[in-house]
Amino acid sequence: MDEIRKTPRSPGLNFSDILKAYDKHPIPEYLKIDKSEWLGDEDISVDRYITREAHDLEKERIWKRVWQMACREEEIPEPGDVTTYEICDISILLVRSAPDEIRAFHNVCLHQGRRLVDGPCHKKELRCPFHAFTWDLDGAFKSCPSRWDFPQLDEDNLGLVEVKLGRWGGFVFINMDPECESLESYLGDLSMHWEKFPLEERYIAAHICKVFPANWKVAQEAFMEAYHNYSTHSQFGIYFGGVASDSGQYDPMGNYSRALGQGGADLPLDFTPSPAERLDALPGVGSQEPVRRVLDRYPLVGGERELIEYELEVRREVLREVIGDKVDDLTDFEVFGGGYFTVFPNFHPWWAFDELAYRFRPWGDNPEMCLMETWLLKPFKGERPQPSPPRWLGLDQSHLDASDLLGRAARIFDQDEFNIPEVQKGLHSLKSLGRGLMLGVYQATKIRHFHMLWDKWTSSETAPKSG
Ligand code: FES
Ligand SMILES: [Fe+2]
Repeated sequence: MDEIRKTPRSPGLNFSDILKAYDKHPIPEYLKIDKSEWLGDEDISVDRYITREAHDLEKERIWKRVWQMACREEEIPEPGDVTTYEICDISILLVRSAPDEIRAFHNVCLHQGRRLVDGPCHKKELRCPFHAFTWDLDGAFKSCPSRWDFPQLDEDNLGLVEVKLGRWGGFVFINMDPECESLESYLGDLSMHWEKFPLEERYIAAHICKVFPANWKVAQEAFMEAYHNYSTHSQFGIYFGGVASDSGQYDPMGNYSRALGQGGADLPLDFTPSPAERLDALPGVGSQEPVRRVLDRYPLVGGERELIEYELEVRREVLREVIGDKVDDLTDFEVFGGGYFTVFPNFHPWWAFDELAYRFRPWGDNPEMCLMETWLLKPFKGERPQPSPPRWLGLDQSHLDASDLLGRAARIFDQDEFNIPEVQKGLHSLKSLGRGLMLGVYQATKIRHFHMLWDKWTSSETAPKSG
């Protein structure tokens, strides 16, 4: 691999060194890929985070043309179930129009423009509350009161305005551009990472919605690298026993990027943490309770076993309860997790059994406000459990207020959200100083890759196509 690396990399062990050195299982091809390449070192302009012009450009050239995740299929399980997806000042309604058919339409009545539905609901037909213009669930115009009063009305030409729809991993994506490429083509080889971990076989165990006084890109970039672990999540250093090596791997892959490994910067500690202290600092998301359960059965004795090795064994046994002996074929890394993806522009599923997915978008039409959503997607056995309803956190609330849903991950989100509004404020100072954002050339690969795609989409008259 060394010969294809063009960028600076950590002088310490890197992700693939660790995989090769410690994992006894055959390493699958998709984990051997290393896309390290020079993406540039130019500063990123502040304007795209703070100006109305950049926000309007995004609306026209990204949001109105790109594939974007709109909901989970399980949110509208029955024919007639409806939900909505809002982006800037646009509202899309998604309806299950038949048992295995979902359609998406602009959420607007074609009479005088009222929003057709106000949010999630169940409908036999789509009837506008204002004057009762009515459409079938498949979007065909059905009726209106006083039909005689509309001699100009062409019934064949009054279907709801449909938008393209695609599905991946139990998520529903929409695209408002009638000329767009298919979702499959847009996502490329994304699915190869999830062959063993199908996200459609998960259910929504938690859905947290939090508004931030920051541009949506400021918020999501706080979740696209592990470099901030050094300072923001210093407990990770304790978990790794003193040194969280910057071993992470970052790969740009077409319209998406991936990060592998829980890398952070070197963090020398001035004490030697005990196994209990390390356990307490566990970064694992959704893993803590299972670890505790198994620890009760097989107590950790003193410090004679390497904690990470111990946790791996524990996780394998916990996963065995869900996926059976298939767990024996997984590499340690697939069991341990630590892979997080970004599908341009704003969808961030974690990989393997890490169970998280994020989405970030502007809050209303305001360039300096955003909505962050976090899903906890858990595997299940037997009948699909009911999805957990969204939990809304206001501007003055922290993810700690959702600790009952997020477990120990709430503390990690709380640490992240501490920075986000302060970055937004500071960007205005950077601008007045005539400076931009300086990114690390390797550990910020996902962020730089995002901005390369952002440039491509916002500068292109027609929507860029893959390949
Ligand atoms: S605006 Fe919808 S029926 Fe009049
Ligand atoms: Fe973080």
